[in-house]
Amino acid sequence: MREIVSRADRLEGVISLPGDKSISHRALLLNSLAPGDAHVTNLCHGDDRSSMLRCLRGLGVKILKHQDCVITEGVECFKIVGKGLHGFSEPTTLLNAGNSGTTLRLIAGLLSGQEFFSVVNGDSSLRTRPMGRITEPLTEMGAIISGRKNNTLAPLAIRGGSLTGIVHESDKSSAQVKSAVLIAGLYAQGSTMVKQPSVSRDHTEKMLESMGATLDINGSSVEISPSELESVNVRVPCDTSGAAFWLIAAICHPNARITLPGVGLNPTRTGVLEVLKEMGASINVENYRIEAGEPSGDLIVESSELSGVEISGDIIPRVIDELPILSLAACFAKGRTVIKDANELRVKESDRIFATVNGLSRLGARISELSDGMEIQGVNNLTGTECESFGDHRIAMTLGIAGLIAKGSTVINGSEAAAVSYPEFWDIVKTLRAT
Ligand code: S3P
Repeated sequence: MREIVSRADRLEGVISLPGDKSISHRALLLNSLAPGDAHVTNLCHGDDRSSMLRCLRGLGVKILKHQDCVITEGVECFKIVGKGLHGFSEPTTLLNAGNSGTTLRLIAGLLSGQEFFSVVNGDSSLRTRPMGRITEPLTEMGAIISGRKNNTLAPLAIRGGSLTGIVHESDKSSAQVKSAVLIAGLYAQGSTMVKQPSVSRDHTEKMLESMGATLDINGSSVEISPSELESVNVRVPCDTSGAAFWLIAAICHPNARITLPGVGLNPTRTGVLEVLKEMGASINVENYRIEAGEPSGDLIVESSELSGVEISGDIIPRVIDELPILSLAACFAKGRTVIKDANELRVKESDRIFATVNGLSRLGARISELSDGMEIQGVNNLTGTECESFGDHRIAMTLGIAGLIAKGSTVINGSEAAAVSYPEFWDIVKTLRAT
């Protein structure tokens, strides 16, 4: 599919975002591990949610949509009838994680604790993404895992059970790896520790703590002791990564004001706000609140003058998913922006360094690839033309936002990829332009 987006004269509105994808995945999976019922509201939308639901249902978990929500009366809600750590059933068919790396990696942690046999697979993009980073520690804990290319690529066949705690020291800061190992650690004998070079998103730790698990967190190291969990009701804050698209649309457009209510403001996710503020963006936070350990607030954002910055080092894991859209912001900044230490972008849903440079340079950006990032010289204007999503939701949406600001019309081929995390995205692009 292709979307054609033309420049908007003004961007104005209040945008209600879906629930945060990372927190939604944890709310579904971790509540499945507890032996009670949990209600979850404001769950994320899109294909990645369906992937997590499909895998959990494939393991016998009952997850029902209903209106009798105990969190907010009358609101659409999901009830998860938890299985407890040992109540899952051997799946009779392949578990399909679709395009979702979080689903595959977190489910692999869960499956490593199960004595039965299972196979988890994904789409053609997910089957190229590195899995050695989880199969290696999970195997060291005692799970029997095989996969293509010496157990580093999906599909992964897993027979778990009888795990022993390990100290897993990794050279990458990945929340998915950390979470997979911590989930397996719930089943292990002895404690399990994950040490990473810098802090990555900590939603797993926060939710596990709220469910009664014993965790010891020290900077970027986390230790978990085998624990039984109690189910927890979760009102998921709105998606920080989804908000980044509208934030940057408003900041880069010369005539814009957008309000984003209830956006997740967990400090392990707000690298994008820190970078934009350093670039000179006008972003106000109102109604700051904390629920179940997860902060959120309303963001009010306006057209701003930006300056180039360097984005590198410890902030990278806290801004990793927002680097493509931040590259667009850099096109409208004065001077040069350099993104370094972001090799992980090469192994996301697409090679996001290649895909971002390809798309934005077609639109007239002065942007080039570095082995571990990008270099962008601000040009302050882009011109619409035809460009490609490479099947990646965040690239499709970055180009959609570029289309609202670039002169003329921008054609985004493969626009359907946005549905992986944000099915309403193109409708909002259409309604946002003030007429
Ligand atoms: C995620 C962690 C990040 C992020 C992904 C979602 C999560 O990946 O890029 O979109 O929910 O844990 P890594 O942990 O592999 O960096």
